[in-house]
Amino acid sequence: MPVITLTIDDELISGREGETLLQVIKEHGISLPTLCHMEGLSERGGCRLCIVEVAGSPRPLPACTTPAREGMVVRTRSERLENYRRMLVELMLAERNHYCAVCVSIGHCELQRVAAEMGVDHVRYEYLSPKLTMDLSHERFGLDHNRCILCTRCVRVCDEIEGVHTWDISGRGVKSRIIADLNRSWRESGTCTSCGKCVQVCPTGALFLKGAVVGEMVKDPTMLARVLEGREKKEWEG
Ligand code: SF4
Ligand code: SF4
Ligand code: FES
Repeated sequence: MPVITLTIDDELISGREGETLLQVIKEHGISLPTLCHMEGLSERGGCRLCIVEVAGSPRPLPACTTPAREGMVVRTRSERLENYRRMLVELMLAERNHYCAVCVSIGHCELQRVAAEMGVDHVRYEYLSPKLTMDLSHERFGLDHNRCILCTRCVRVCDEIEGVHTWDISGRGVKSRIIADLNRSWRESGTCTSCGKCVQVCPTGALFLKGAVVGEMVKDPTMLARVLEGREKKEWEG
């Protein structure tokens, strides 16, 4: 792939044509907060935490869905960006019921880590406190809508890696929900293979292994990379 040159945070940096800004930024050791992004899955650009300022663009752009181009001038940190990112995290926390103290993922939750890194110690918005249910119908896994941030990692891993497309999103805005097979209970899903990939990629305590108690739900961040590497090496053939 041809090499391109960009300016990121006042430094001349090289990347390859076809890469996203996020890829180039990460390759150069600059950290950006991300939640919907996951290596090995398609990009959705939904959480907006990876926004950057690009010269010539009137609004910040998500680095994960913006192609890196020759001559781009990009800024990853500014007061405006920090304010936006903080607001986005606060809105995520206010939209559902994130009671970390009683969550299976406390201490291992990506939303909690991102909030801590940004110094979010309070939320300036009114909590919506929706009355949401849990789906505990699956033999081994549970879904708690209260913890879901609609990142769609579960939808994408099930569709793109497991190849069955059990999950989807129904509704719009604050009424959006993750649903299995056109709104059946997880147990009634005719497509789920019980592989557990969706549970492992979920950044919060929304998808979890049944039996896990507070703080016990540790996800395996290497799972997806191992699956993809195995496929590349055709480890399951022959
Ligand atoms: S367990 Fe596997 S097949 Fe079932 S919903 Fe999750 S990713 Fe899809
Ligand atoms: S259940 Fe988890 S992986 Fe799926 S959209 Fe919600 S937070 Fe994301
Ligand atoms: S990580 Fe880029 S928009 Fe979510």
